[in-house]
Amino acid sequence: MRLKDKIALVTGGAQGLGRAMAERFAEEGATVIAVDLKEASFDSDAIHSRALDVTDSEAAGRLVEELYNEFGRLDVLVNNAGITQDGMTKKMSDEQWGKVIEVNLTGAFNLTRHIGPRMEKDGGGAIINISSVVGEYGNIGQANYAASKAGLIGAGKTWAKEFSRKGVPVRVNTIAPGYIMTDILKTVPQDLLDKFAGMTMLGRLGEPKEIADAALFLASDEASYITGHTLSVNGGMRL
Ligand SMILES: NC(=O)c1ccc[n+]([C@@H]2O[C@H](COP(=O)([O-])OP(=O)(O)OC[C@H]3O[C@@H](n4cnc5c(N)ncnc54)[C@H](O)[C@@H]3O)[C@@H](O)[C@H]2O)c1
Repeated sequence: MRLKDKIALVTGGAQGLGRAMAERFAEEGATVIAVDLKEASFDSDAIHSRALDVTDSEAAGRLVEELYNEFGRLDVLVNNAGITQDGMTKKMSDEQWGKVIEVNLTGAFNLTRHIGPRMEKDGGGAIINISSVVGEYGNIGQANYAASKAGLIGAGKTWAKEFSRKGVPVRVNTIAPGYIMTDILKTVPQDLLDKFAGMTMLGRLGEPKEIADAALFLASDEASYITGHTLSVNGGMRL
């Protein structure tokens, strides 16, 4: 029970990596609020579903206020909601660029700006940003996505400094997953997925649980001396 009595909020929690994290956290004793565009159902009574578009700054503020009224505190925030809208830079529309930055980067800011300072006031907490191997290394056709994911690494390091400057242990870390089988990869052709698998030292794509386990570690007290860090969870990808 590594998250016993902890309250965790996971964005993009209805499916994929977010759902895996919500379920893994609940197994380890946390009460989890899984936030997504639409409410979703979960087997565990410990997971509460809430609808929120993370790009809606005002709605994010209102939801955070409601959650503090209902649950009293938040110990863990995972900024996981994310999308792709790929295209070569010379053909990328303003909308494609803007939407991906808005969801992946501004969405994380919209929640962290409220929750980080509250964690500091409450004596501590753990924030985890979900970046990507693409944020670390770039990828053809994904300038918008790479920029948003690299932005999360920079914002995360800044939040690690800001929220702990009075000596309160608000830890902020980032996970950079490699290629993990979820819906976000469903438009990627199989031969490319095989190529990505072949680029890893472990010779395979990752499972959502493997990201959830890394997030669980960073959220738990076992990571009490880790902050401002980016953890690559990518099977040893050579890029
Ligand atoms: N799967 C991978 O290979 C991989 C690799 C690196 C990083 N990531 C990142 O992990 C995160 C989760 O991705 P996934 O693979 O589970 O994809 P996914 O598409 O299965 O899940 C993403 C979730 O985010 C939600 N979402 C999208 N826009 C939202 C918004 N505006 N407000 C609230 N929720 C919103 C979606 O509804 C969905 O439930 C993303 O940030 C993604 O960029 C995934």
